[in-house]
Amino acid sequence: MTNDGRLLRLDGNIDAFGEALAALKAGKLVGIPTETVYGLAADACDAKAVAAIFAAKGRPDFNPLIVHVSDAAMANRYVKIALLAEKLIAAFWPGALTLVLPLRDCTGLAPAVTAGLPTLAVRHPKGVMADLAKALDRPIAAPSANTSGRISATTAQHVMDDLGKKLAIVLDNGPCAVGLESTIVKVDDGKLTLLREGGITAEQIEQVTGMKPAKPETRAIEAPGMLLAHYAPSKPVRLNATQGAEDEALLAFGSQPIAGGCTSLNLSKSGNLEEAAHNLYAFMKALDATDAHAIAVQAIPGTGIGRAINDRLKRAATGAAENHEKAAS
Ligand code: TXA
Ligand code: MG
Repeated sequence: MTNDGRLLRLDGNIDAFGEALAALKAGKLVGIPTETVYGLAADACDAKAVAAIFAAKGRPDFNPLIVHVSDAAMANRYVKIALLAEKLIAAFWPGALTLVLPLRDCTGLAPAVTAGLPTLAVRHPKGVMADLAKALDRPIAAPSANTSGRISATTAQHVMDDLGKKLAIVLDNGPCAVGLESTIVKVDDGKLTLLREGGITAEQIEQVTGMKPAKPETRAIEAPGMLLAHYAPSKPVRLNATQGAEDEALLAFGSQPIAGGCTSLNLSKSGNLEEAAHNLYAFMKALDATDAHAIAVQAIPGTGIGRAINDRLKRAATGAAENHEKAAS
């Protein structure tokens, strides 16, 4: 399989959409933007192409993939959608909500997509990913377009830098609007479980369903993205910093940014959490690329999407610490 890693702007002169569709049909990997983060995409029914996703990411085969659909009708071909799930779909699709639902029999999906689970994670995203699924008339399997365990990509250039040589095409549609991965909710037997916090908050889910989503009972492999060490930069990450040391790069937030450090970026000078989510991964990558020895992060309020931001930061800090131990051992 030839992988040219061609970066194509969606609004450019070349028919980027047509080329991406042809590449997917040919079983190749394509970097595709969504409103949350960029996806590392392939036809979900093509077993070889799906295997190539796992290989490109270095993703363990027990970690299932999200499939992206063009609408609820396409989702209904693969999963059983009960009333509770219908309510969530009506309220939040297209959007940053992934639903884990009971898998139907004989779906034609590549078995590796679900990693042997009796459930499937489905999402109807906004924009070109859904348009491509519609044109393909099949779901598109796509994890976040980053090497397993590292920071997700929110620009096409991030995807090129990390995975460019392993992909046929990366579609460039500018930076992702939300900037954090989708919220994942499992709907099972009239029960809701929040497997991953994200762009859509638990409060919003409760407003629509009248039910508070439960926390997962075990930290087992319900959603391996919930593994504690994830989303990690290569430098150590120090959370809730009130002052930066001389050799630290600062990730600040709000109108009273922490002082010190050798360099700093402010996630949102006005203290807007949506803006902070949008900037989070790009700023972490930028600070990771500096000469600083560590990244010190100012406290960020844990309300609304701030909970998902804090969740990712905690995992980034844990992941960075583990990478460091590995490198030292
Ligand atoms: O915003 C997003 O969700 C992005 C964009 C590309 O859609 N995708 C994304 O995919 O974040 P990924 O693979 O990085 O994270 C998907 C998470 C993983 O933690 C995986 O373990 C979990 O979803 N997952 C997938 N299928 C599942 C299932 N059947 N049951 C429980 N968790 C599942
Ligand atoms: Mg991911």
